[in-house]
Amino acid sequence: MAEQVKKPVKITETILRDAHQSLIATRMTTEQMLPIIDKMDKVGYHSVECWGGATFDASLRFLKEDPWERLRKLKAGFKNTKLQMLFRGQNILGYNHYADDVVEYFVQKSIANGIDIIRIFDCLNDIRNLETAVKAANKENGHAQIALSYTLGDAYTMEYWKDIAKKIEDMGAKSLCIKDMAGLLTPYQATELVTALKESISIPIDLHTHYTSGVAAMTYLKAVEAGCDIIDTAMSPFAMGTSQPATEVMVETFRGTEYDTGFDQNLLAEIADYFRPIREDCLQSGLMNTKVLGVNIKTLMYQVPGGMLSNLVSQLKEMHQEDKYEAVLEEVPRVRKDFGEPPLVTPSSQIVGTQAVLNVVSGERYKMVTKESKKLLSGEFGQTVKPFDPEVQKKCIGDTKPITCRPADLIEPQLEQLEKEMAQYKQQDEDVLSYALFPQVALDFFKYREAQQTKVDASIADKENKAYPV
Ligand code: CO
Repeated sequence: MAEQVKKPVKITETILRDAHQSLIATRMTTEQMLPIIDKMDKVGYHSVECWGGATFDASLRFLKEDPWERLRKLKAGFKNTKLQMLFRGQNILGYNHYADDVVEYFVQKSIANGIDIIRIFDCLNDIRNLETAVKAANKENGHAQIALSYTLGDAYTMEYWKDIAKKIEDMGAKSLCIKDMAGLLTPYQATELVTALKESISIPIDLHTHYTSGVAAMTYLKAVEAGCDIIDTAMSPFAMGTSQPATEVMVETFRGTEYDTGFDQNLLAEIADYFRPIREDCLQSGLMNTKVLGVNIKTLMYQVPGGMLSNLVSQLKEMHQEDKYEAVLEEVPRVRKDFGEPPLVTPSSQIVGTQAVLNVVSGERYKMVTKESKKLLSGEFGQTVKPFDPEVQKKCIGDTKPITCRPADLIEPQLEQLEKEMAQYKQQDEDVLSYALFPQVALDFFKYREAQQTKVDASIADKENKAYPV
């Protein structure tokens, strides 16, 4: 009998980024991560996703931690495993377009501080918004992975995906990710999509999905059988629900087959044992809401990501209009159509979601229009796959002439001015980047940091005084 050809599926572990972003509002602290990374480093993961996405904002804003410091500590612990981050193209980790000099500097500093693989995506799949980040990553000898924001709609044919994947390969991406943030990709569609993409490109394909609609583990199985090279999973205490399928489950699924990861299930069990009490604490405190843990088939019906569903609920709650939830859910696809049928992922998901809420709550469509909706309809986020509805566009932006170029072509370099504005708080080069993305939050953090340092200095002086009485 001929020996079976081995092509082990590679695993990207998400527990230190997407999993806790999806289940506990990105609140896992560096202190909670560090004790276990030595063991995680021995598993044999293709990479550990541990930075970027919402972790940067949450570290500064809620945890009062320096995200750069977290990255350096993780790098010191992960000696054998590649570190991965999520990067929103020209939006970096923020919600607006930044100048090219900021994007380039951010990429440079991310790699210098320890990132190996940068997953870069654009919420409109406008690949012009990826160019600067991809070029910068290649220049710094990083691995630029481009992610396609996966979505459904008339425009998103197999031809569309094959064509854009080819463009991405030609742009210099080292791998391609199908980023299914809403968990819309069903198992047999995955077979079809991965097979088609494999015909179109030769760089490795990574599938990233969420368990939200309950099909994710089966989707991974079919995708891997069709030739998908890498899958994203989370250790079981932070898996499933709006997070990823469980690492241990996928490892066991492929055991003994040509896709066998070879991972040690005992080692994985020790890692899970470490995270389980953290999960229990999060459940006890309410940080982990049981609502995000079950199967939510509405995400398939309305094609909205799980995170967006919970945002809509909280927006309506604040307005005491919870009874409008169903009406808003029905309005979301209509707004999406008016806005050129973009994928729903940060920041387009927030833009479409908030506009849908306003359309329903105000009683008249586009009577109230957010600044972000106007920007989107003015072309300031880039090009959508379909044209905007001309009447809606006219009602929202009037006679303003929309732009058609790459949006960042109109943004002057920003770094020099930013450096000036925050100079008095600067303690490391990277601080200007924190300030660029979240000016107010970063300033608050810098002030907090100074106050802490003064406290520490005082206590050291105090101890020294005690040790050496004068
Ligand atoms: Co995700």
